[in-house]
Amino acid sequence: MKIIIVDSYEEMSIKAASIVQRQLNIKPDCVLGCATGHTPLGMYKELIKAYRRKEVDFEQTVFFNLDEYCNIDPKNKQSYHYYMNHNFFAHVNAKRDNIFILNGMAKDFDQEIKMYDQQIKAKGGIDLQILGIGENGHIGFNEPGESFETGTHIVQLQESTINSNSKYFPSKEDVPTAALTMGTKSIIQARMLLLLANGPEKASVVYETVKGKVTPQVPASIIQLHPNAVLVIEKSAAAFI
Ligand code: PGA
Repeated sequence: MKIIIVDSYEEMSIKAASIVQRQLNIKPDCVLGCATGHTPLGMYKELIKAYRRKEVDFEQTVFFNLDEYCNIDPKNKQSYHYYMNHNFFAHVNAKRDNIFILNGMAKDFDQEIKMYDQQIKAKGGIDLQILGIGENGHIGFNEPGESFETGTHIVQLQESTINSNSKYFPSKEDVPTAALTMGTKSIIQARMLLLLANGPEKASVVYETVKGKVTPQVPASIIQLHPNAVLVIEKSAAAFI
């Protein structure tokens, strides 16, 4: 595990974008696992800037999103479909056919999650998985206590996640209570992991993730076992490590 501590959110975003960019320059048809939330927003902005400077090209890149809320329309501004389109895909030359995002409106969730794992496999697996981290240690929507052995699945969101994500919704009651997510097993199978964290509210969980016991109680702690994990941590989130 390589830990890079940086001074600011901006520096974290620039560093993360440069790691993604390097990967894409080495392998233009790279399979990229994408994360949502506030943390990677700056990184996506930097990647868009690099694209405009013609330093990176997404034409052959394949994208798999980590997760999506259940029962939320892709056009809804809080959906992760909207997030990815609005904050990234619409600004670069990503091909529609190469973008995979779990369908939170699927009639048959079992079929949807099964198909997603098959699609990841058919594309050769994820080369680089970008990750944020929840204050409770979740990666994707893999909540504390879930088995490390899960592939893509449906989860009931924990109270702490609903509270934390309510800032993005008109009220807490509007936050969906379930989501579809790539499982810890799907995530850990990626050839490289890139985990980002910023802000003092993440300091405890970052400590648990890198220095604590590897345990499903802190889903992100699994990255200690990954042979090629890079963490880019803004200094206030790195306060305890
Ligand atoms: P955040 O979410 O980037 O909005 O803090 C991170 C996460 O829950 O994975």
